[in-house]
Amino acid sequence: MDKFIIKGGKRLKGEIEISGAKNAALALMPATLLANGIYNFTNMPNLRDVKTMASLLNRLGVDIRFRLHRMTLNTKSINKYEAPYELVKKMRASIYVLGPLVARYGYAKVSMPGGCAWGPRPINLHLEGLSKLGVKIELDQGYIIAKANRLTGNNITFDVSSVGATGNILMASVLARGTTIIENAAIEPEITALAEFLLKMGAKISGIGTRRLEIEGVDELTPVDEKMIPDRIEAGTFLIAGAITKGEVTVTKCNPENLTAILEKLKAVGCRLEIGNDSVKLKAPKILKSVDVKTEIYPGFPTDMQAQWIALMTLASGTSVVTDTIYYDRFKHVPELMRLGADIELHENVAVVRGVRKLIGAKVMSTDLRASASLILAGLVAEGTTEVLRVYHIDRGYEFIEKKLRALGADIRRVSSKEY
Ligand code: EPU
Repeated sequence: MDKFIIKGGKRLKGEIEISGAKNAALALMPATLLANGIYNFTNMPNLRDVKTMASLLNRLGVDIRFRLHRMTLNTKSINKYEAPYELVKKMRASIYVLGPLVARYGYAKVSMPGGCAWGPRPINLHLEGLSKLGVKIELDQGYIIAKANRLTGNNITFDVSSVGATGNILMASVLARGTTIIENAAIEPEITALAEFLLKMGAKISGIGTRRLEIEGVDELTPVDEKMIPDRIEAGTFLIAGAITKGEVTVTKCNPENLTAILEKLKAVGCRLEIGNDSVKLKAPKILKSVDVKTEIYPGFPTDMQAQWIALMTLASGTSVVTDTIYYDRFKHVPELMRLGADIELHENVAVVRGVRKLIGAKVMSTDLRASASLILAGLVAEGTTEVLRVYHIDRGYEFIEKKLRALGADIRRVSSKEY
């Protein structure tokens, strides 16, 4: 397992290009199961999760070529309908094949995703929604077996707004007979990107970008090409890297409109921002102000930025309260940040962060993707050397993070397990 060795204290300065969005790629790739033919995707991020999704689709019979951010998917020879345990346990987003497979082929067998490193992550809304469309669902030895003739449209109201359940039901309903209405649909940009993609393929969807989606099922869809939207979480993470190192960082090829909640908070911290059409330039203040954050569904502050925000707040001038309302247990970074000298008290889903004068480098262990990002951010400013162990998590969701950080002046290197 690789680790990162970071010598803290470098002020980051410069420009960095943001990659394509992981969570858009992970939704659009399974959507290709809905029509036979060839798709060309561009701006595809080179990430472990994207490769895991490619392996899964490949097992189903999709021929995939992936080179230099361009992916070609040929779905002409799909001949299997099963997502095995070995792949689903690596990546929960594998559940996204369930909706399209059962909608198009009338059968899917998908390993039930277990909990995640930071706690439970149910899929009841995916299964209830599919049942409402006429899918018969059984659980057998850890697998979801889904069977249906042609799906039938229905009204589905989610109690909780869910990115994954909205995506799965959307992909299933585009080929259903009749009309499906999804109330309390997720409006995260990655779901909007999925809906726009399905629309281009010939689906009939109205209300895109709102909490009420209306889908009129069609008999057939056609493959189309697509460019992935920029990764808003990567952009937010690099902006925080600029802020925490008291630097000056510009993120380019991003969509500032999708970053509103993060940018508002960075302004409140005292950062000066220049917002362009597809770029944001951040200049950090000398003293960071403490700013409370509560994660919310989009357009609120994303849970996927909570860990990075806590890292920033460890060095702010006062006390801040960071609450995660989406995932109550997503705080595995807190005890590790405390090993670097952070002063954080955790009460269930609320972290009270008292700013300290400095962090001091140490060995820390990353447990999940965003926790890894948080520890790297802390390492960039900690005095001395920080070693972040188990960084394979970071490769799931940040493309070449150490190269991008080095380009901004950070002293960070990856040491492969063979070397230590
Ligand atoms: N929920 C249920 N039942 C369900 C589904 C969700 O109760 O059937 C609850 C969850 O427990 C949670 C809330 O609904 O409290 C929202 O979960 P959601 O379904 O929206 O999450 P997800 O689709 O599993 C996606 C992202 C996550 C991101 C969340 C929240 C992908 C592949 N994953 O997960 O991304 O944290 O939305 O925005 O899109 C990450 O990139 O690091 C990551 C974890």
